[in-house]
Amino acid sequence: MNLNLLILAAGEGTRMKSSISKVMHPVLGKPMLSYVLETARTISPSKTAVVIGRGSDIVKKLIENYGFKAILQRERRGTGHAVSMAEDTFGKLEEPLVVVYGDNPFLQPQTIKKLVDEFNKNKASASVLTIEPEDLHGYGRIIRNKTGGIEAIVEEKDCSFSQKSIKEVNAGSYCFAAKELFGALKEVKSHNKQNEFYLTDVIGIMVNKGLKVVPVKISEEWQIIGVDSRKKLAFANRILKQKINDKWMEEGVTIIDPETTWIESAVTIGKDTVILPGTFLKGNTIIGEFCQLGPNCVLEDTTVERNSKIEFAVIKESHIGENAKIGPFCYIRNETVVENGVKIGTFVEMKKSRVGKNSKVPHLSYIGDAEIGENVNIGAGSITCNYDGTKKNKTYVGDNAFIGSDTLFIAPVKVGKGAVTGAGSVVRKDVENNEVVVGMPARRIRKKKTKEDNVSS
Ligand code: UD1
Repeated sequence: MNLNLLILAAGEGTRMKSSISKVMHPVLGKPMLSYVLETARTISPSKTAVVIGRGSDIVKKLIENYGFKAILQRERRGTGHAVSMAEDTFGKLEEPLVVVYGDNPFLQPQTIKKLVDEFNKNKASASVLTIEPEDLHGYGRIIRNKTGGIEAIVEEKDCSFSQKSIKEVNAGSYCFAAKELFGALKEVKSHNKQNEFYLTDVIGIMVNKGLKVVPVKISEEWQIIGVDSRKKLAFANRILKQKINDKWMEEGVTIIDPETTWIESAVTIGKDTVILPGTFLKGNTIIGEFCQLGPNCVLEDTTVERNSKIEFAVIKESHIGENAKIGPFCYIRNETVVENGVKIGTFVEMKKSRVGKNSKVPHLSYIGDAEIGENVNIGAGSITCNYDGTKKNKTYVGDNAFIGSDTLFIAPVKVGKGAVTGAGSVVRKDVENNEVVVGMPARRIRKKKTKEDNVSS
């Protein structure tokens, strides 16, 4: 779009009572400012800059990651003062300058487009987004003249009794002719209840100069939610949750209880998957078709292939194959790969491990830094003792092995294909293919007969 964009994000967020910058507080997993930066990316202005406050190093980093410019406002002296910090960057540019607020995460690209279109169509000096919200509290009121044109914006704290009852308010987004904006800003004074230089005062100044200002009214209140308190943050999270859940239900996903289902924006879900209450899908999680998740699952940066069932589990940075059954009560993490048809059962923790096709770890096990083959059965209570106090060591269990309950693998150690360990074995040395071991430490008792042995005897 033919425009420049300025985002104001230097406010201290006093009402958040937080030691982190207001715009870095996450809304469904992402800092609220990143929603505004993504909108900026979508509308692709010629130049984008963000005004930030002192000590906002993380905010600066986030802005620069998007390839935008950060402008410092050393002292927070009001929205008008914040905009004046950007005069060197935008003052001489011909394109319309859109100004939005960084604590307004849900403003949509098409709304900015509408603001710019009206500005251009009317050959205006400014266009202002307005709305009639249910709760007027905190908003600047739009003062209209007799012919319905906009005359000024008066901040709530400075409103007279009758002005307070005006239903139309300033939604906090504007499009300006840059030269006229910076000219008018020089006339803004801080004689008001907050002793601040209000950006909103430029509207009255422009109108008094005979410049054209057009209001652009919208009705979707969720778009203009300004997050300046923990309560509003919770509200913003709920709004986004509902929008994302609605989208997935429209795409053919069953969500039994949308109230308790939280899905972050980058997650994808295949159709006919059913999500039960208390499920939280985070980061870059990908869910296949016909899965059943929940109740009570947290999945983060995890892929689950089709037709798998997961209940009461926390799974992070891992891969679950098709037709797998996970839970209840498991913790699977750090690049664990669970292949097709695997069962990981009750009270199992897995870390940085691979479990081959159709294997089972059904009860009460810790599997860390392990490679487990196909069709293996790991008996209840088995543990890979992977940490020797200085480093992590690997355990290998070959295909078709049968691991007795309470086996301890003292890693590094290898258990061969088709091998058997007796209940309570402590496996300190490698076990050969088809060997049967028992005891503590496990000692060899015999060699298991295989099909081949039967043929040769
Ligand atoms: C502002 C508008 C109000 C409007 C409302 C809509 C002004 C004076 N008032 O009020 O008319 O109805 O938004 O949400 O503009 N900021 C800075 N530097 C500063 C002060 C603020 O960068 O010195 C940033 C804040 O980080 C925030 C934004 O500007 O992102 C808005 O500031 P805030 O003081 O919260 O304005 P509101 O009271 O919401």
